[in-house]
Amino acid sequence: MASTVSFSPANVQMLQARSGHGHAAFGSCSAVPRAGSRLRSTAVRVSSEQEAAVRAPSGRTIEECEADAVAGKFPAPPPLVRPKAPEGTPQIRPLDMTKRPRRNRKSPALRAAFQETSISPANFVLPLFIHEGEDDAPIGAMPGCYRLGWRHGLLDEVYKARDVGVNSFVLFPKVPDALKSPTGDEAYNDNGLVPRTIRLLKDKFPDIVIYTDVALDPYSSDGHDGIVREDGVIMNDETVYQLCKQAVSQARAGADVVSPSDMMDGRVGALRSALDAEGFHDVSIMSYTAKYASSFYGPFREALDSNPRFGDKKTYQMNPANYREALIETAADEAEGADILLVKPGLPYLDIIRLLRDNSALPIAAYQVSGEYSMIKAGGALGMIDEQKVMMESLMCLRRAGADIILTYFARQAAGVLCGMGSK
Ligand code: PBG
Repeated sequence: MASTVSFSPANVQMLQARSGHGHAAFGSCSAVPRAGSRLRSTAVRVSSEQEAAVRAPSGRTIEECEADAVAGKFPAPPPLVRPKAPEGTPQIRPLDMTKRPRRNRKSPALRAAFQETSISPANFVLPLFIHEGEDDAPIGAMPGCYRLGWRHGLLDEVYKARDVGVNSFVLFPKVPDALKSPTGDEAYNDNGLVPRTIRLLKDKFPDIVIYTDVALDPYSSDGHDGIVREDGVIMNDETVYQLCKQAVSQARAGADVVSPSDMMDGRVGALRSALDAEGFHDVSIMSYTAKYASSFYGPFREALDSNPRFGDKKTYQMNPANYREALIETAADEAEGADILLVKPGLPYLDIIRLLRDNSALPIAAYQVSGEYSMIKAGGALGMIDEQKVMMESLMCLRRAGADIILTYFARQAAGVLCGMGSK
């Protein structure tokens, strides 16, 4: 079924003659109004010089084409010829194929029409580091991120994020060493940094969604997510008991979603019961369902000074080599009443996001973690990659893999781009 029309050099000359400088030639100016309306109807921003330069393929301006149309001179059908190829281009017969997927990609309007995945600021959750201090302290390994003073810098950051459509936040506290202990009891102090901050935020911005982190590591003198026994074992059920107190304390302060990131067994069911017992039936649980023992968390641990004092987190976080095991965690979290399932890290674990997406009807969250953020920032700062484009692509890929929401340190910057404000 291939076309047998061939394009000889003569045809090309004819095109040049017709489209050159003519009053008589209305060649392809029918394309012009379409091109013009495309520029207006999409989010693509075109500078005024570019707009002034929009011309019909005949070389005439939009105004000239419009004047002709008003005068009743309508364009002739476009000639069946191809523009000139560079000298030396091989003269060949067109390939014999009925399917040419490039047809659906040939213009911005077609590409936009067939785009399968979209992304909006509503999909973002911005993680925020907070501390007791008055000033904002930059985090060395995460350019653009700060430990925010809970009373000033934090409010300012939330204000700016809301300005570009980001309304969801997850809080991570940097706790002074003096408040850390082996059992992490500061985690459920109703007047601790996190509950106090939640109350302040909810007072100022009642419509935002506040996610909290449920885990002992910021409060643990051992830097682990759970209570560490003398022999180094992380005690599961005793830790879950503490986490329940922590989540209830956060709910009391006004948290909308509590997010256990600790990877203890049975914590989702226990949290659900503890919340319900206190009347917090409407507080959601976003479970870190598939959280891997990843080296991509390095910058985060620097930010919170929460590196494990000894050993690693491999007895509770998952082995990065494992795929099927994520299904075991998914089944448990669903059965125990999780409202949202989270995969972490993000980009290196797209297969796991897709696995959960295909095996659960629950919303899926992806966490683009600190190391992913820092790599893109570093590559951009060194001029090796285009930071803004790689940022947007990485977030789109997380959506394509199946994530409904994305926890990302880029939330504000990316939302700014989506709002047409460029970067920063
Ligand atoms: C700890 C926690 C970690 C992150 C979120 N919650 C670190 C860890 O498990 O050691 C990492 C987030 C990031 O790297 O951006 N409960």
